[in-house]
Amino acid sequence: MKRSRYLIGNWKMNKTSQQTALFIEQLAERGEKKEAFIGIAPPFTSLHIPFSVDVHKGAQNIGLSSSGAHTGEVSPEMIGEHGASFVILGHSERRTVYHETDSMVHTKVELALQYGLLPVVCVGETESEREKGDTMEVIKHQLAAALSGIDLRSVVIAYEPLWAIGTGNVASTKDIEKVHRGIRNYLNEHYGDDAGEEVSILYGGSVKPSNIEELVSVSEIDGFLVGGASLKIEDFVSLTLHM
Ligand code: PGA
Repeated sequence: MKRSRYLIGNWKMNKTSQQTALFIEQLAERGEKKEAFIGIAPPFTSLHIPFSVDVHKGAQNIGLSSSGAHTGEVSPEMIGEHGASFVILGHSERRTVYHETDSMVHTKVELALQYGLLPVVCVGETESEREKGDTMEVIKHQLAAALSGIDLRSVVIAYEPLWAIGTGNVASTKDIEKVHRGIRNYLNEHYGDDAGEEVSILYGGSVKPSNIEELVSVSEIDGFLVGGASLKIEDFVSLTLHM
């Protein structure tokens, strides 16, 4: 089964639109065309910046509804208008800092699909859940809620253990392999027809130029969601060279 491969930069709350424009210009100069899906999710305020043809533009979140009384939120139609083709949903920072629940993530996945956006659905366990041996239980719960009634061929999953995000502690290839396999087995069981074998599952958490070579060799990993290392042009270009 040949699955699509992805390298997605999650810029979080970083870079003004001017800095975004400069980065995209430098990427176009240095990056080569890749077979993999190369994407960047800048802040909403940078979405109007034109991206070069080979880089997909995405958002880091959408509101819970297509329009209306949602102060401070941005709708899927609004991000689509600026050329976003994908959206990161259920990131752990949204879940923990902004109290997004599994059911909210599910609503957003449905909404994104309705507007033709590719949802990149994040799942992952905390350090204490991991220590208790609850990793797969937590992830299955997140998947069951987020993907209920969803066509698996229209989503990408990102496994991001919370203890690996922004800490420099990348998960071991053995651990990632085990969790990605666990996710596929769960999806095969619940969606049938080997559905889980077709879904691209990305890994995220302290991916950087110095560890991507080892990670890229793991067949269960279909790509990466990268925070910190996607902000520096040299690092991001170096990551793209492995895709
Ligand atoms: P990191 O962030 O690469 O800085 O660990 C990943 C993420 O939060 O998506």
